[in-house]
Amino acid sequence: MNNTRKGLVPRETIDEIRSRSDIVEVISECGIALRPAGRDFKALCPFHTEKTPSFTVSVQKQIFYCFGCQTGGNVISFVQKHEGKSFMETIEWLAERQNIALPTQDARESANQKRLRTLEDLNRFAVEYYHRQLLTERASEPARQYLKRRGVQPKTLRSFQLGYATSGRPELVKVATDKGFTIQQLIDVGLIKDEDKGPQDRFWNRILFPIQNERGVPVGFGGRALSEDHQPKYLNSPATTLYDKSNILYNLDKARQSLYKQQRVLLVEGYMDVLMLYQSGVEHVVASSGTSLSENHARLLKRYVPEVVIVYDGDTSGFQAAQRGLHQLLAEDLRVRVALLPAGEDPDSFTQQHGADAFIELTDKAINLIEFQIQSVIQNRDIHRVDVKTQVVKEVTETLLNLKNRVERSEYIKYAARELRVDERILWEALKDAGFKETSGPRQTSRSKVKPQKLSARAQIEHQLIEALIQNPALLSYVKSQFDCQHFTEPRFAKIAQLLWEADTEGEQMDIQTLINDSGDEALNAFVSSVLLRKTPPPNLQARVEGCLKKLRNFHLQDLEQRVRSHALAEGADEMETLEQLVRLSNERRALRGHDAGVTHDED
Ligand code: UTP
Ligand code: MN
Repeated sequence: MNNTRKGLVPRETIDEIRSRSDIVEVISECGIALRPAGRDFKALCPFHTEKTPSFTVSVQKQIFYCFGCQTGGNVISFVQKHEGKSFMETIEWLAERQNIALPTQDARESANQKRLRTLEDLNRFAVEYYHRQLLTERASEPARQYLKRRGVQPKTLRSFQLGYATSGRPELVKVATDKGFTIQQLIDVGLIKDEDKGPQDRFWNRILFPIQNERGVPVGFGGRALSEDHQPKYLNSPATTLYDKSNILYNLDKARQSLYKQQRVLLVEGYMDVLMLYQSGVEHVVASSGTSLSENHARLLKRYVPEVVIVYDGDTSGFQAAQRGLHQLLAEDLRVRVALLPAGEDPDSFTQQHGADAFIELTDKAINLIEFQIQSVIQNRDIHRVDVKTQVVKEVTETLLNLKNRVERSEYIKYAARELRVDERILWEALKDAGFKETSGPRQTSRSKVKPQKLSARAQIEHQLIEALIQNPALLSYVKSQFDCQHFTEPRFAKIAQLLWEADTEGEQMDIQTLINDSGDEALNAFVSSVLLRKTPPPNLQARVEGCLKKLRNFHLQDLEQRVRSHALAEGADEMETLEQLVRLSNERRALRGHDAGVTHDED
């Protein structure tokens, strides 16, 4: 969904329109014959053909969900989908119905343009201000030392306009309002938070990486803590009218020229990775900054380059993130390769240790994605076993389905058949079984996710945890502090977790209705609605969450052990060090188990 369009109407107006439009009334007005069923309403689903009603509407929660086709959302998403209207058209329609005045089109356009420009100016002002603080303030000495220690040269610091938010007093609030900006504008760009004790700077005691859109306009910040005990490591601006994370790739503005020249982009995870590479002359690099790759990201890159080389961190979460990013890129018909870093390294550390030439060499050797997929299975599982092979064929088939280019598809099939020692025909068959038609157009990826699959034990726990968070968003902050959302493995849940984690910004509790509106993601909306409608939260939600966290941590530690082992096998790494790592990891796991037993005692 397009956020700038959304930005035309102030958020408060949208909230008002939504809360004044009763979902049951609206759905009835759209010609759906709702019948009372307990506290809810039911009807034959307007989005698919059915004989018994599985379309459910909750008055209390103001959402709808179809248990048949798994479509769901709030009143706005219903009208959008049922009437085929855009978000703005829906808002206009609902506003008129409620007699709520919207600013007229022209006035609105120009007023909104002006508003956006002011917000951009405010961000520019903040970039300047924080940058000056870093360069000149005495209090910024620790930050300057920190950057120096990490190898950031003065020219890099200037070209990326790094800044520093000193600790303590609400500095920015004061200078920006002195300059004529309003508190509301500061809130609108996410620079300050409105708290009980008054407006507070969002960032303090953090090094700030200004985040620019592709036109070079600053839209947000990533704030790096200086020490381990200041958490989170990075605090980022929340989503705002200017900053839509699914549309922003860090450094795209500076990389543009180089992308055209190189005809490829290196996709890394972090701000520091970008900085260190850029500083060593590798300019065709952008970072996904810890968010999962969206369709928009892929589309954005497609405008500049035909090929993406993913260079994520050499750890389990980097590996998994890379796997998740693949499909988005493929769906845009980008060529994708994956470069594997040695375990424990990221592009930043690798370049500092081995130099930019070695890094480029590594990316030149990047493997194509089918290779990557097959290699990743070979590393972790016994490829000679029939059940493993069957599973790999299934995974590879998923990828092949996303490929648009025929020649590539058939080349990859040849490669996969050779590596897996299966007949090419088997892969073609599997592809057909999975719904592939030679003449079919672009595949609807969101549809393919809907088909029910049996979940692994781990995915089931992930499922439970996400459910609990949707049922009680108040738990989110706690869970966030305990578990990294990168460690989700089931792509569906990983994506939802990411959105939840992002929706929960320091201090403000996430609102489910706003999440539905902001995400614009059909799968997420359906999932959220289904959880809210289907399940009554168990009384001991907190205990269940604790249980899930423990199990997931355990799974994650197993992953790490597995990685350490296969790394040791593959590269003949330092044996002592490997051993130490393994002992440490298994101790951690044992500690978890001990803890586990204790909890069960206390509770049951
Ligand atoms: P990393 O943890 O790999 O950090 O996260 P990094 O970029 O290597 O940074 P240094 O070297 O430890 O300082 C990769 C990216 O994920 C996002 C940030 O964009 C980061 O650059 N991230 C990470 C967050 O948004 N929040 C976090 O708490 C951690
Ligand atoms: Mn990193």
